[in-house]
Parts: sequence; C-alpha cells; structure tokens
Amino acid sequence: MIRPFLFLILVLISFLLIQARTSINYDEARRALLTAEENLLTGGHTYLSEKEIKANEIFMQYKIKELDRGFENEEENAAALHFFKAKPLIDKSKVFQFLHRMPKGAVLHLHNSASVSSEWVVKNISYYPGLLRCTTTKGKTVLTFRRTPIGHHCQTEYVLVSDERGNASDPQVYDQEFEHIINMYTPHPELEYSTTKQSWTRFQDMFDSFNDALAYLPVFQIYTWRALEELYNDNIMYAELRSTLRPLYGENGTDFPIDRTIQVFHDLNEKFIQQHPDFLGIKIIFSAYRGFEVDRIKNILQDFKRIHKAMPNFVVGFDLLGQEDKGKPLYDFWRILKDFPPTARFFFHGGETNWFGASTDLNLLDALLLNTTRIGHGYALAKHPIIMSAIKNRKIAVEVSPISNQVLNLVWDLRNHPGALFLAQDVPMVICSDDPGFWNAKGLSYDLYYAIMSLAPKNAGLRLLKTLVGNSIRYSAMTKEEKSRSYQILEKHWSIFIDKVLEEVDN
Ligand SMILES: *[C@@H]1O[C@H](CO)[C@@H](O)[C@H](O)[C@H]1NC(C)=O
Ligand SMILES: *[C@@H]1O[C@H](CO)[C@@H](O)[C@H](O)[C@H]1NC(C)=O
Ligand SMILES: *[C@@H]1O[C@H](CO)[C@@H](O)[C@H](O)[C@H]1NC(C)=O
Ligand SMILES: *[C@@H]1O[C@H](CO)[C@@H](O)[C@H](O)[C@H]1NC(C)=O
Ligand SMILES: [Zn+2]
Repeated sequence: MIRPFLFLILVLISFLLIQARTSINYDEARRALLTAEENLLTGGHTYLSEKEIKANEIFMQYKIKELDRGFENEEENAAALHFFKAKPLIDKSKVFQFLHRMPKGAVLHLHNSASVSSEWVVKNISYYPGLLRCTTTKGKTVLTFRRTPIGHHCQTEYVLVSDERGNASDPQVYDQEFEHIINMYTPHPELEYSTTKQSWTRFQDMFDSFNDALAYLPVFQIYTWRALEELYNDNIMYAELRSTLRPLYGENGTDFPIDRTIQVFHDLNEKFIQQHPDFLGIKIIFSAYRGFEVDRIKNILQDFKRIHKAMPNFVVGFDLLGQEDKGKPLYDFWRILKDFPPTARFFFHGGETNWFGASTDLNLLDALLLNTTRIGHGYALAKHPIIMSAIKNRKIAVEVSPISNQVLNLVWDLRNHPGALFLAQDVPMVICSDDPGFWNAKGLSYDLYYAIMSLAPKNAGLRLLKTLVGNSIRYSAMTKEEKSRSYQILEKHWSIFIDKVLEEVDN
C-alpha cells in the first residue's frame, strides 16, 4: 500500500513535470523534486533549533571543504578511500573531530571480543603476566593463560610472551608484530585482502588466536572494563554487546560455568555505571556460532533461555554469528527458534553478503518471518523491495556497519554502500561499529564519519546526524523508562555540545 502522503507527492511531481515541459516553471519543478527527496531522506523532518542551525552551518563548512578537497584530489578523498588508507586523513579531519565530540547515543551492534582497540590490548594484555603463545600446524598463533593448555594443535611449545619479548632484539618491533595478531591493518588492503576469503580467514583467525587469552577471568575483566571506557570516551552512553558467553577460567585453568561470564558482565556494568552516572550501561545479546550443528545450537538455546529468565532485562536476546556465506542459513534453525520466551527477542545478522538469491541472502527473509527486532548489517536488503517495505512498516532497524563491510570486502568505495539507499528512503537504521578493535578503529566516530561523508548526500548535516543518534536510542532494547532517561541525558549533553561548538567559533 502506498502511504497517502507519498501518493500526494507523486501526484504533485507528475503535475510539476507536465508544467515543466509546458511553461517557464522549470526551475520551480526542479526545486520541488529536490525538496520532495530531501523530505523523504532520514531526518528530513527533524527539527533544529536556532542554535543547532548555526552549529550545522559550521559543520557544513567543514564537510563541504573536505568533500571539495577530495573532489580536487582523489588521493585525499577519505570518503571514497579504504579505511586503512583514509585513517590518517580522518584523524586530522574537522568533521571527524566534530563527530568525536558529539554525543552519539548508543552502539547497537558490537562484538565484545573485538571491541577494544588493539593498541590497548598490546600495552596491557600482551604484558599481562603469564601470557603464553604457540604456533599451530597451520602457522597461526594461539594465545592463552592456561598453564596446561588444551587442544590447540600446537606445533611449537608454548613460550611466555614476556620471554620472547625479552629475547627480541627490539621489543618495540616485537610489540608491532604482536599487534598484527589482533589487527587486520595493512597499508595495502587491495593486495592482502583482494578476496572475501582472504579477509574473512584473517578475521576469523584473529578471534581464534585471541579468544582463549580473553577467557582468563582477570584479563576478561580489564578488557571488558576498557571496552566500556572506549565507548564512554567516544561520547557513547549505552551499548548492546553481542557475546558468545564463553566459559571463563581462573588460576588453575578450569572453566567456570557460563553463568559466571554473565555475572562478570553484569557486575562490571554496575560498577561502571556507578562511577559514570551519565552512562546507561550495556545489555547482552547472547550469540552462537552459526556453523554449529542444529543440536548444539539447541543446547545453547537452553542456556540462553535459562539466563534470559534470570536476567530478562540484561541478557535481552539471541543472535547467530560467523560468516553467513559459510555458516548455516537461518532457515536450518527456524524450527528450534520458533518457540521462544515472549520477552526474549532476536537480533539476527542477515544479508551480510554480495550474493543475490543465495541462501545467505535469504536470511533476511527468515529474520523477518522470525520477528527479528533489528537486522545486523542487512547489506543485501535493497535487493528485496518487499522485505524492505515490511521492515520499514514494522520499524525493524538495520544495523549498518560501514567500515566492517568495507574491510570484510563487500564494498570498496563506501559511496556505493547500500546504506545510502536506506537513508534516501528513510529505512529505519542505526550506525554501528561491529568489531572496531580488529581494524584499527575505536568507538563509533569513524563509522559515523563514513555515514555522513560517504552514505549521506552532500548537503546532509546535523539534521541527519541528530536523527541517527536518536535512532540509536529509539531502536535499542532498553525499556520505556530507560529510554526516556536516555533521551533526557542525551538532550542535556547535546545542548552542551552545541553551545561549545558555537562558543569556539565566536572566539
Ligand atoms: C594499561 O596499560 C597502560 C600503559 O602501560 C597503563 O597505564 C594502564 O594502567 C593499564 N591498564 C590496566 C587496566 O592494566
Ligand atoms: C630466550 O633466549 C634464551 C637464551 O638464548 C633461550 O634459552 C630461550 O629458549 C629463549 N626463549 C624464548 C621464548 O625465545
Ligand atoms: C580450580 O579452582 C576452582 C576455584 O577457583 C575450584 O573450584 C576447582 O575445584 C579447581 N579445580 C582444580 C582441578 O583444582
Ligand atoms: C515481535 O517482536 C516484538 C518485539 O520486538 C513484540 O512486541 C511482538 O509481540 C512480536 N510479535 C510476534 C508475533 O511474536
Ligand atoms: Zn556482527
């Protein structure tokens, strides 16, 4: 069904088109077309105060200057460049600095074990006493704190990272190499990641290398705390973390039950909120690897149901993850996903693929049929007009993670990212960071940079940004009360931010 107002716009446009041909009103018709599209764009109807309009003018000066410079010299067009090449330009950018300081609301798609910047991991976890390293028969590194490590098919003996570093001729070079284990950065992504397979293999290897070290209780604690700090430092007030809830282990290397993992998340969150009263905390989306057999997922679902029942407002939902093109499609699991506790929700990854009509692409369909609350990535969504329209009507937000899609090889030039189509048609969406620690990013500002510089039209500014920030609260799994408190805090921070932007320019 075409909505009445859209219908009116269409009638108006046809009328204007006839006019344009028959009279001197060509410019008027042209302007009306532009206006109609601008109104349809995400944020097209968002109100800006006098002050916000002024702040927007400042922002637009930065934005236009950077885009024009990029138009003159494509080498400097960060909006079109791969993040690994663009990052030094972005770090210097006034648009980026503006976005970094801007209150950003929430991040709704973020994987816990790749959420912290690699720089911090090197400084802290690689120096954590007792860290061991081995090399597998396939030449991959495995890290652990278990004194009697298990089941990694190591070809070499485990050695202490501190010993290796002590023996290295240059500890700084050693640290750089260590960082490579958990960071995909390369100056030549076009060579190292010329295929999806290359980028996904490397990406998956990083989890395999790091996960057992991260499961060491004290390390998990400082890592998760740091994750919260990095969000907070990027002016983010809330996050929904996807976690596989692996069992943690202590001194003697024995696994705790996964209830302990969730307890640690919970306690750290409480403590963090106490120290940062304007931070609203995190909630957990329990995620399972989609490559597992159906029976195994069934067991994991039992765990989920039990934990969700104990903490319904903390462990809010369920997801399946891992490369969609290689794992099982959602359709394989629909029977076991059907009877779900009514309070629990799904947050499925879907359509993170370039294959049109393949089983992975059709995950979008099953996500919709299973009543997903949001869709992770939804990269393939624009190819499915019926699903897209249903998603719009049912207000299912798409979690768009531009840098992730680029680094994992779905698109090179982010101006071609389908998120541009979502914005143009006002599909509900939020900007997310997915696994920022694994590709040299931090917080959400880098992804937001691409959203406003590459996905959005040239003249889109604060109105769109404000809408995206609002969306991140609106489409979150927070309760009504939590949302209204979020809006209050956000509004306060937002108006302080706008005042500062204006003050600095006056001086
Ligand atoms: C991480 O490392 C930095 C630099 O060495 C240090 O200042 C900081 O205290 C460490 N943080 C933790 C939680 O160990
Ligand atoms: C460090 O060097 C010493 C002396 O050469 C050697 O015995 C030891 O195995 C080395 N350890 C590592 C971890 O490389
Ligand atoms: C390991 O330590 C935990 C408590 O930290 C204890 O419950 C467990 O029995 C210990 N396991 C072994 C094999 O010593
Ligand atoms: C679909 O999910 C929403 C929450 O995201 C819930 O309110 C609604 O009742 C669900 N509908 C069905 C048919 O399960
Ligand atoms: Zn993801």
